[in-house]
Amino acid sequence: MHKFVVEGGKELIGEIRISGSKNEVLPILAATLMTDERSIIRNVPNLSDVRLMLEILEELGCQTTFDRGTVTVTPYNLDRTQASYELVSQMRASFCVLGPLLSFRKKAKVSLPGGCVIGVRPVDLHLRGIKALGVNYDLDHGYVVADGSQMQGTRIFLGGNSGSTVTGTANIMMAAVLANGTTYIEQAAPEPEVEGLARMLNSMGAQIFGAGSHRIEIRGVDRLRGADYTVQPDRMETATYAVAAAITHGDLTLTNSKYENLIAFWEKLKETGTQVEQIASDKIRVRGGEINPTDIVTFAYPGFPTDAQAPMASLLSLANGISIVTDTIYPDRFMLIAELNRMGADIRKQNNSAIINGTKHLSGAQVMGSDLRATAALVLAGLAAKGETEVHRVYHVDRGYEQMELKLAKVGARIERAEYNPRRRKSDREAA
Ligand code: EPU
Repeated sequence: MHKFVVEGGKELIGEIRISGSKNEVLPILAATLMTDERSIIRNVPNLSDVRLMLEILEELGCQTTFDRGTVTVTPYNLDRTQASYELVSQMRASFCVLGPLLSFRKKAKVSLPGGCVIGVRPVDLHLRGIKALGVNYDLDHGYVVADGSQMQGTRIFLGGNSGSTVTGTANIMMAAVLANGTTYIEQAAPEPEVEGLARMLNSMGAQIFGAGSHRIEIRGVDRLRGADYTVQPDRMETATYAVAAAITHGDLTLTNSKYENLIAFWEKLKETGTQVEQIASDKIRVRGGEINPTDIVTFAYPGFPTDAQAPMASLLSLANGISIVTDTIYPDRFMLIAELNRMGADIRKQNNSAIINGTKHLSGAQVMGSDLRATAALVLAGLAAKGETEVHRVYHVDRGYEQMELKLAKVGARIERAEYNPRRRKSDREAA
């Protein structure tokens, strides 16, 4: 196991190149199952989640290569239709192979993904969607076993209590591409990652209209060609390094980035006193200043993203006043609070909000990540803290940030990856 050792208090100055988007590339890779031709995907970040998705594609009869940011996927055995629990349970996004398998191979046996530390995260909307398309399925020993041979275009409402679903929209959009007739997805997720997936599918021969809005029309086609697609920059990596500039009072230029995909985030970051400037079509300059408090409520796109609330909580823990961060998408996504408080932050959870009373400084401590964004947020807190911070469980970071410690070190951070061999924790001994 690895940990990061961070010596805080260094201003970060320089350029960071943003990698391809994790949340776009995962469904994109699943979509390569919708053809028997070879697909090429470019600007692919080297992440453990990506490598896991490639393993799933191999389990599903594809040969894959991954070389310097370019993935090729060559399907050779179209009879394989089972995605196993061992792989799917490690990453929820892998449930996105369901739509492609039903669409092209007409059969699927995909493990249900199960719970997750940021919330219950059900897949009922995905299942409602395939049922509306005429798929017969059973839930059998933790698997969805489904027959897609009778799929028929229809009008589907994909809204849930928390609004639209990103991977649910991707899954149903992919399922509908090769179905008979036209499908309309109402209350579709308008996230840029869904729009990117539609662009890729259209380049393969699909007929998808309206992706990026709440209503997507999919006219069924007979077959798709192989894809050649370049993944967009990662919005959440951009937001995380923008906060790194703000929290260290630094001056970072984020290259290969896309300003327009994070409008609500930039507005909030500016409210804290951080200067944000789009200096070229793919370059954003972020300069830290004083840190003012602000209130944040997460919403589906284009609202403030839930994935950026943990990094912002680290920043606001050093603001000169009280901030409130409310998560309407994942009301329990606040495991970070206890760890930040160990570093001297003053944060209280109330229902689905964190009440953050800004303090003058944080002090380095040993802390533990609980999920991808919370772990990244602890690294950010460590960059600003006095003394040394050890962030444990950085395998969470490796799921979604390409070479985080190298990118940060290049702009002046004192951060190192080190081996971590924990003795068994007291709670584990007691539970044993
Ligand atoms: N929901 C349901 N039923 C469903 C699906 C979702 O009730 O069938 C609920 C969820 O519980 C949640 C809300 O709807 O309250 C939104 O969930 P959504 O389905 O949109 O989330 P997701 O597709 O599973 C993606 C990202 C997450 C990100 C969320 C919200 C990927 C691979 N994952 O998850 O990213 O937090 O959208 O924007 O795209 C991350 O990158 O750290 C991450 C967790």
